[in-house]
Amino acid sequence: MKQYNVGIIGATGMVGQRFATLLSGHPWFNIVALAASSRSAGKTYKDAVGAKWKLQTPMPKELEDVIIMDAENDIEKIGEMVDFVFCAVNMSKEATAALEEKYAKADIPVVSNNSAHRHTKDVPMVVPELNPEHLDIIPAQKKRLGTTRGFIAVKSNCSLQSYVPPLFPLHEKYGVEDVLVCTYQAISGAGKTFEDWPEILDNVIPYIGGEEEKSEKEPLKIWGKVEGDEIVPATEPHFTAQCLRVPVSDGHLAAVFVRFKNKPTKEEILDCWKNFSAKPQELKLPMAPEHFLNYFEEDDQPQTKEKRNLEKGMAVSMGRLREDTQYDYKFVCVSHNTLRGAAGGAVELAELLAAEGYFD
Ligand SMILES: NC(=O)c1ccc[n+]([C@@H]2O[C@H](COP(=O)([O-])OP(=O)(O)OC[C@H]3O[C@@H](n4cnc5c(N)ncnc54)[C@H](OP(=O)(O)O)[C@@H]3O)[C@@H](O)[C@H]2O)c1
Repeated sequence: MKQYNVGIIGATGMVGQRFATLLSGHPWFNIVALAASSRSAGKTYKDAVGAKWKLQTPMPKELEDVIIMDAENDIEKIGEMVDFVFCAVNMSKEATAALEEKYAKADIPVVSNNSAHRHTKDVPMVVPELNPEHLDIIPAQKKRLGTTRGFIAVKSNCSLQSYVPPLFPLHEKYGVEDVLVCTYQAISGAGKTFEDWPEILDNVIPYIGGEEEKSEKEPLKIWGKVEGDEIVPATEPHFTAQCLRVPVSDGHLAAVFVRFKNKPTKEEILDCWKNFSAKPQELKLPMAPEHFLNYFEEDDQPQTKEKRNLEKGMAVSMGRLREDTQYDYKFVCVSHNTLRGAAGGAVELAELLAAEGYFD
């Protein structure tokens, strides 16, 4: 496979740190540029991050002395070094959208973790196992931007990556009508650890700003269709969500209630999950899990702490599937929010883009 030079924009942040560790030693991607705000620019990666390193695994040795570039003012220089960039910055929605568009217009493809462009009509929001065909919109986006190589592709919010994957093959076969979901989300989703958020211990916070709206709206874009120069969102399934912050370091769990147009048997649902395989598995993308959807029979599974790291944190674990008195079925599912739900999902998306020739 061809090698690609990559940059990480927002390298000093929590998701940026995940990118750095995931990409260190990646078989296709070589990190050649790290960028962050002007506060960090000019410092070594080690000095810029300092005590803000949030992962259990240490900073990759080969990146410690890399000089951080200025994400907003060094775009041209970065463009000369990289084939594409990953972007995970903590800026306002407007500033993030503008920054990503500047990179794309400088002919630097952007694979983004940010939410700013998730609902831009010609920006694909892709979970590689679910809607890889949305990449077909990229030529239309390039035409609008006036670019030869530059475009923006985004991944979806972390919460839905636990409950949309198991619903996806079921919707195709049996028509999912209504979904009620409650998510129990880890503190790393807020960029926090227990050290810097002690108030979360022994506590549940019943509010995550903007999360319920994203959890109800984003699945419809994933189920949308490319029509002409836009992705038209689906109008069903209907989602209603409550999102809670719980004292867990990593891993989002979701409790799901689902109603079908054509109610399957429990065995048919389990079969659908067991046999699900998609393009990333077919292409053997390095980051892709061998089995994306995994069902556990034990009554007390899937537990967040036990299952979040399944298949390098890229698999989804389900359990407790049973009939419900008001909906057809209910079940519980878990995925790793900063791996499958953030940096890992973006790396897998970049692998799909590379395999399909979008960076050439
Ligand atoms: N944490 C998660 O689980 C998660 C999951 C999915 C998506 N996301 C999204 O990913 C993005 C990053 O999240 P995070 O948790 O990694 O945030 P973070 O830890 O606060 O890191 C933010 C990064 O943005 C940089 N930055 C801030 N202001 C900037 C500016 N004006 N110009 C250029 N760079 C700037 C920071 O650089 P300095 O260090 O120099 O300030 C840092 O590298 C956000 O959009 C977030 O919503 C996060």
